[in-house]
Amino acid sequence: MDKIYENGIPNGKKLGIDYLRSEETQLVLKLPNDKSITLSQSGMGLIAISTVIWDAGLLLIDYLISLHNQLGDVLDLGCGTGICGIFSVLLNAKSCLFSDMIISECLLSNIEILDNNLSSNKCKTIQYNWNDRENIPECLLNRTFDIILCSDVLYDSKTHAPFISLIKKLSFNKLLLAYKIRHPEEERAVLTKLSELYTLNIIDNSSFPKFNIKECDLIGLYIFEITPI
Ligand SMILES: C[S@@+](CC[C@H](N)C(=O)[O-])C[C@H]1O[C@@H](n2cnc3c(N)ncnc32)[C@H](O)[C@@H]1O
Repeated sequence: MDKIYENGIPNGKKLGIDYLRSEETQLVLKLPNDKSITLSQSGMGLIAISTVIWDAGLLLIDYLISLHNQLGDVLDLGCGTGICGIFSVLLNAKSCLFSDMIISECLLSNIEILDNNLSSNKCKTIQYNWNDRENIPECLLNRTFDIILCSDVLYDSKTHAPFISLIKKLSFNKLLLAYKIRHPEEERAVLTKLSELYTLNIIDNSSFPKFNIKECDLIGLYIFEITPI
């Protein structure tokens, strides 16, 4: 893990999103076999953190494509626009629970883009803020998720402790954390803590094809595969 912090992040590469892209109201995202899906963003730029699609999300969907349907029951934690969970459903996940502190109109309209059967049978949403440690919804606690997707959820160090506390209470077979380095010291402490509790592997970004993330945006962007010890 230490080697990801060796080079630092060049100026202009800390944000984790292309500013012009963040102002688009619709993004066309590529799927295998020349298929695509168009998802909405708020078009309000970066102020709307949960309603724009982040680079980490683009990297994670490209990795999900490479997993070839080994998804099962998915939790998209900090789902924002729903990009990762929506891709999991398109890639044959059995179900996806979308969770965020904000369940936006943008998320709901993106889920509705899915075929009617997929959106109503496979997708559920739950509004939950990790800071509310006493009131974790039952639907997060009463089951084992095959995969938890966490894309770009470490950007605010104030939420690090509640995030770890929540993860410790969830039951899962695998957690994929798509992570953008912004505040190395604090974020490294989160990863160190997680490595004491779970097995952490860094996925080699060159090991899977890129359909959506641009190579130039991969700087400081990683996927951690986290599994129970
Ligand atoms: C940078 S966005 C990433 C959105 C999406 N996963 C992606 O990759 O495009 C981080 C998401 O985490 C959510 N989030 C941040 N802190 C949270 C908290 N304390 N409880 C629940 N969700 C939180 C935000 O609302 C936002 O949707």
